[in-house]
Amino acid sequence: MTVTIVGSQLGDEGKGGIVDLYGDSADIVVRYQGGDNAGHTVVHDGETYKLSLVPSGVVRGTTGVIGNGCVINPETLFEEIDTLRERGLEPDVRIAARAHVIFPYHRVLDGIEEEAKDDLAAGTTGRGIGPTYEDKAGRRGIRVGDLLDSDVLRKRLEYAVSHNRALATEVYGIDPGEEFDAEHLYETYRGFARRLENEGMVVNCGEFLSSKIDAGATVMLEGAQGTAIDIDHGIYPYVTSSNTTATGAPAGTGLAPATIGDGEIVGIVKAYLSRVGTGPLPTELGRVEGQTPADGGDREASDTATYIRDEGGEYGTVTGRPRRVGWLDMPMLRHAARANGFTGLAVNHLDVLAGLEEVQVGHAYELDGETLHSMPPTTEQWGRCSVVTKTFDGWPEFDPVVENGYETLPAAARTYLEYISEELSTPIYAVGVGPGRTETIVLEDPF
Ligand code: GDP
Ligand code: IMO
Ligand code: MG
Repeated sequence: MTVTIVGSQLGDEGKGGIVDLYGDSADIVVRYQGGDNAGHTVVHDGETYKLSLVPSGVVRGTTGVIGNGCVINPETLFEEIDTLRERGLEPDVRIAARAHVIFPYHRVLDGIEEEAKDDLAAGTTGRGIGPTYEDKAGRRGIRVGDLLDSDVLRKRLEYAVSHNRALATEVYGIDPGEEFDAEHLYETYRGFARRLENEGMVVNCGEFLSSKIDAGATVMLEGAQGTAIDIDHGIYPYVTSSNTTATGAPAGTGLAPATIGDGEIVGIVKAYLSRVGTGPLPTELGRVEGQTPADGGDREASDTATYIRDEGGEYGTVTGRPRRVGWLDMPMLRHAARANGFTGLAVNHLDVLAGLEEVQVGHAYELDGETLHSMPPTTEQWGRCSVVTKTFDGWPEFDPVVENGYETLPAAARTYLEYISEELSTPIYAVGVGPGRTETIVLEDPF
């Protein structure tokens, strides 16, 4: 049986925490797309773990698989594994032979393309994600399995490096460093390959997972990013370069669509919106210079934005820069519920909104005289939508007694949750009232 965890908004909805919550019942946790652009937080025994590539389940000793739909930076992979070992864990991590590998030139190109794009820049994480998926689609990518064969690696590098080097020098006019030196890359990546082999990490992902499922194993699929930044269903071009939706799960693991579809698909919802990156955001509160478009953001609402940002710790982990925040966007969630087929929802960060006098949601959009209940297909149209809001009574700060279940929540908070659940015709499985595992109210366990 499988349970797929999917971000329903713009990423950082608290997916890592929910994987951790339900992960005890899983034998294997699998990432199916993305790479080290993700940052998933697990709080366990008072310790905080931030994982970007290794599946969140490994914090509790569950086998973690990085599927073929992912792009893997071996340097990040080993750093993450080593850090977990230093912290006393024994992570069991397997890597799909068909997963594509991020090379240093991908990171360089990510940076220069962002600069060149100007208004079209997505505010990427700079990890080389886009360029690596470009090489994959361009059939010049290098896969984990290729690293293990020295002749294949040498041959593949020859073409991939010459192509990317020409792009860097002839199109962007940069002076290429060792990131574009095929011999240097060959030596470095053969080193990574030896470690992958010595630790027996490489698997034929689809077969590995299917055989485990046939033998009765339960598998959790850990989505990264969120539906509104999915390459097909998101706010293109301000998106990431993979299918973050549940659609990505079969393609990115080698499991059959029916296997995923027969299981549960849990949508993770942040009780408001946060956004790291550019592009329109109709329910945005306040503004963040450099990310909010010139005509975006509610200029009157910066106090509310600051309140939510401070309560929710919505500041960049590395840069400390404020993240964009906004009210919950129901058309975005209806779009996500339809595209993913959510069987349940986990609504996080309900505590963050506590203390506000009133809480608003974007209930619908108005565009060219029409009322829309879901996202329009172009980002230009989305940017022109005005928001039909719905106002809820706020709820006071509360001291959650999670053991008392759902009834521990203030009545106004329950009204808010019931509205979300009814609008999406999807039951709520869990409610997050704090970052820790013991700060989540569980109504249903999908396993
Ligand atoms: P992910 O990328 O979806 O896994 O989410 P992140 O880990 O990037 O961001 C979520 C942040 O919110 C982390 O710091 C979590 O510890 C924290 N968090 C998760 N759920 C809750 C919640 O219900 N309330 C509060 N206050 N924080 C939460
Ligand atoms: P998790 O898994 C939030 C955003 C970037 C940028 C766009 C493209 O922690 O929810 P990329 O580096 O992927 O090419 O950047 O996607 N982005 C995320 N935003 N959470 C994430 O991951 C993200 N991963 C990428 O900010 O706008
Ligand atoms: Mg994150």
